[in-house]
Amino acid sequence: MAVERTLSIIKPDATARNVTGKINAFFEDGGLRIVAQKRLLLTKEHAQKFYDVHAQRAFYDELCEYMTSGPVVVQVLEGENAVLRNREIMGATNPANAAEGTVRKALGLNVQENSVHGSDSPENAAKEIAFFFSGIEIPG
Ligand code: CMP
Repeated sequence: MAVERTLSIIKPDATARNVTGKINAFFEDGGLRIVAQKRLLLTKEHAQKFYDVHAQRAFYDELCEYMTSGPVVVQVLEGENAVLRNREIMGATNPANAAEGTVRKALGLNVQENSVHGSDSPENAAKEIAFFFSGIEIPG
């Protein structure tokens, strides 16, 4: 199995409730290593650019508004099949559909305030990691 990296974002609903440590425990207990991490307040331009792929979706403006409503924690997670593994750890996008034992089941509030983002493919993971981190900021 391949060791991969994926981009994770702990979203404003989670930082507001002071559960970043709790979420990190899901990642670490699930076999992923946090090899880079920083807390940021995104600008509207950052959020719009990051979620560019959703620009035509009805929820895009609200999503960008929400992602700039408070601090986020951006992270690089590393491990075997990290992209897929992280998606399993996070659970379904809508917390109402998320499986027991997942972050979104435990902590997500609704389809928008769903506590975490994770890359959906290795190709997007590489792009999303480069969006937030330079090489020297990923010490491993
Ligand atoms: P994320 O995995 O970060 O990818 C896009 C985000 O859009 C998603 O999580 C949600 O936070 C947000 N979102 C808001 N409404 C919807 C919706 N109806 N379907 C999918 N994603 C939504």
